[in-house]
Amino acid sequence: MRPKHFLNFEDYSKEDLVEIINRGIVIKNNKETSEDLNKKTLALVFQKPSTRTRVSFEIAMNRLGGNTLFLSSSELQLSRGEPIPDTANVLSSMTDVIVLRNDNHEELVLFSENSSVPVINGLTDLFHPCQILADLMTFKEKNGNSELKKVCWIGDGNNVCNSYIEAASKLDFEMSIFCPKGSEPYLPLLENGKENITIVSSKKEALHNAQIVTTDVWTSMNDEVSSKERMKTFKNFFVEEKDMELASSEAVFMHCLPAHRGEEISFNMLEHDKSVVWQQAENRLHVQQSLLEFLLAN
Ligand code: CP
Ligand code: NVA
Repeated sequence: MRPKHFLNFEDYSKEDLVEIINRGIVIKNNKETSEDLNKKTLALVFQKPSTRTRVSFEIAMNRLGGNTLFLSSSELQLSRGEPIPDTANVLSSMTDVIVLRNDNHEELVLFSENSSVPVINGLTDLFHPCQILADLMTFKEKNGNSELKKVCWIGDGNNVCNSYIEAASKLDFEMSIFCPKGSEPYLPLLENGKENITIVSSKKEALHNAQIVTTDVWTSMNDEVSSKERMKTFKNFFVEEKDMELASSEAVFMHCLPAHRGEEISFNMLEHDKSVVWQQAENRLHVQQSLLEFLLAN
């Protein structure tokens, strides 16, 4: 039987997502878990740097009683041309779940098609769904049962933005995106999500009524070659303290981190009283512990 993977939100229902998020909150509050993953192994195959994703998955798996194996892809035979299907076949024959962070989403899909255990997207060029689970958990913690109706995205229509768009369709919230021309999110997602997603031409419009105000770096890990050019393209696409006054009175500011102060955010934005970025980062741990339970218990 094909294992259930977590590559993006496509194969997940609203109920699945709500279950994972709510369980993340329970885990955080009770510091307990019902699933015993004793002796199970999580492999982390990373082609790019990471602080939050790596550390949160390693600690989550340890808290569940399992163990972890960190594999930098440059040290695997992958880097010498061993095919992805062969690597997936071998790694999944010895482990119980795999987190993959890589440059190319299609390669993640290929890996998952050849894996006999669940594969989790730890960030690709196209999606970063684990991040959005943590964001939605953070919103729920702050706002209880008050429904999320609008998210404002300012800046690059990148992997994090794409995962927000998928979540907007699943959970039925509106998303307003203020991004430079040419840096729009992945087009097929925009076409599928017409009802929920609007690309707007002013920051003010994007912020209006938003309950989550969020942004990300101007230069993602895939885009470093064009970073000089991007400084010019993105110079008007940043969040500063006074922007929060234009959003909903209950708005919170989020950033997936790492952040670049003086680029996509003003220098003190992370310390703003509406910023929840540290809570958001910590929630990666709790919600991913919930995700591991969800995948390995089902
Ligand atoms: N937000 C996030 O995924 O951070 P890392 O790149 O540190 O894992
Ligand atoms: N968009 C960023 C997210 C980092 C967590 C990147 O891909 O580098």
